Amino acid sequence: MFSKTGHPLTAREILDLVRDDLEKVEREISLESVASVDAVTTISQYLQAGGGKRLRPILLLLSARLIGNMTDGAIRMAAVVEMIHTATLVHDDVIDIAKTRRGRPSTNIVWGNQTSVLAGDWLYMQAFQVALRERNFHVLDVLIGLTQAMVEGELLQLERLAKIDLSEADYMELVDRKTAALFSACARLGSFLAGADDETETRLADFAWNLGMAFQLVDDILDFTSVEKILGKPVGNDLREGKVTLPLIYALQNASSEERKLTETVLADGNYESVPFIEILKMLNRHKGVERAMERAQSFTDKARALIGTFPENPYQRALVAITDIVTDRDH
Ligand code: IPE
Ligand code: IPE
Ligand code: MG
Ligand code: MG
Repeated sequence: MFSKTGHPLTAREILDLVRDDLEKVEREISLESVASVDAVTTISQYLQAGGGKRLRPILLLLSARLIGNMTDGAIRMAAVVEMIHTATLVHDDVIDIAKTRRGRPSTNIVWGNQTSVLAGDWLYMQAFQVALRERNFHVLDVLIGLTQAMVEGELLQLERLAKIDLSEADYMELVDRKTAALFSACARLGSFLAGADDETETRLADFAWNLGMAFQLVDDILDFTSVEKILGKPVGNDLREGKVTLPLIYALQNASSEERKLTETVLADGNYESVPFIEILKMLNRHKGVERAMERAQSFTDKARALIGTFPENPYQRALVAITDIVTDRDH
């Protein structure tokens, strides 16, 4: 958990460990995002230049280095998972009618829905094309299962949109598919490509799954507690989009019928014109919605921490430990 100087690894120190690898990954993404149609290339470049934390490739690279040596295959696969992530964001912003992504107008706003959907399709296929170079069925199996899980997550979310009675279990099922599945696949692929045995691969995948769950819970908390300038996307957005997330689920368990009505009104209106966002925040505060959701996130973090603790200590293991804290404490 501690670096040479005895303090927990910082984000910069983690980045230092994978900086060279990550540069290669960025090159691979640029190289592989060139299509014979300009729109796709332009959209890929726009998203790549727009920032993003590169959490998924970092997780894959650290998982590979934890187990063994870095290979060209792991670099390529880190590019693949980021490309899949990008494709899901492009489609997600169409589905959510989003306005902003990574602090800039989202692709659906700049290029429209039709072009964005097709560019997303192209990116998915390109990611699979690159993955195919491993000539490995396990890799394809993981990636296909993962992509289907993510699509299922988005479909389930659509079905459950604007449902004020969404249960905690239903919410968790969404988060599992939407986010944790990809985190888990990153650790699985990284460790597999570095030569991990089945048990080790699964244990690391399990660690990353818990990390992914915590990550999405925190993302949903930040939607209530952060500010747009830091987050890179509007706040209060989930409820406006009809998404009932964990802080709200918890608050609604103890809410009065008037408070419930406030939520119902926002869900029905799809905006904060008759019920201002601050009223929703006050209700969350009264029932400790954010606090309780944060505790739940922390329990996933604790599980992740315990699992990564079963691996031998080295700089990469320490980095993965530190990431669990960074995910929980982040502000964007
Ligand atoms: C956004 O993921 C989608 C979610 C799972 C919440 P990130 O927050 O990792 O997005 P970027 O890549 O850093 O922009
Ligand atoms: C993110 O989902 C996209 C996927 C994980 C498929 P959300 O719609 O919840 O996240 P943001 O808020 O747009 O990043
Ligand atoms: Mg969205
Ligand atoms: Mg969405």
